[in-house]
Amino acid sequence: MAKFILVANWKNYPNSLEEADSLLKAMSKKRLLYKKVSLFVAPPLTYLERVSARIKSFAKVASQDMSLFYKGARTGEITPEILKSFGVRMTIVGHSERRALGETVEVVRDKVKSALRAGITPLVCFGERERDHDGEHFEFLRDELKQLLSGVSKKDVSKIVLAYEPVWAIGKSARDAMSPLDLSQTVMFIKKVLADLFGREVSESVPILYGGSVELANAQELTQGTGIKGFLVGHASLKSKSLEAITRLVLER
Ligand code: PGA
Repeated sequence: MAKFILVANWKNYPNSLEEADSLLKAMSKKRLLYKKVSLFVAPPLTYLERVSARIKSFAKVASQDMSLFYKGARTGEITPEILKSFGVRMTIVGHSERRALGETVEVVRDKVKSALRAGITPLVCFGERERDHDGEHFEFLRDELKQLLSGVSKKDVSKIVLAYEPVWAIGKSARDAMSPLDLSQTVMFIKKVLADLFGREVSESVPILYGGSVELANAQELTQGTGIKGFLVGHASLKSKSLEAITRLVLER
């Protein structure tokens, strides 16, 4: 069985290199535990080199975003080639917090292609802003997936990892996260959309992660029978004890 994928999205934390170091120190004490899952840490870019060096025996480094551009003078942009040279093999694309800053679905789609071209796994984030009783969010999810994956070949789609992150569940607490029942229905729906677009075999091979207030209190129930292959963890990944506890729980599933 493939290892459970855990992506620690540090967002714009910790606030200093010292704090990052103490988190890394605590994590490396549990390296044997973390080696049992497929752990990626996505730190702020300024800590990338340090994190990459400190975690290399038990985890991999990921980036929280990536430039759409490969070449050319683009002040402030970090290209896939630069990221690769720092050991980045996975990049988050289309996180809702970036979309809130104006990133469009077309830009995210082009980033997906750019990451694939560079040989970096795109962790493609998508999710509805709100749920409604009529199930209209399912239509939204279908359209979103179609747009994000348009122009991606059948061969390349199996190099993608999807992160289903309902926007309403991000940055809250376990109580406000998605219920296992809703999650399993949504995962089934996502697989159906993938099967319609690329065929059943491909739809079974694309890992679907869940993100949105994954904490110690809900980590286990969200893995049971929901069909997800991993978590994208935000705030809980910034506390070494909670990341450790979540890891233990997913290993028990
Ligand atoms: P959260 O963040 O776990 O703090 O909800 C998840 C994310 O934004 O990727």
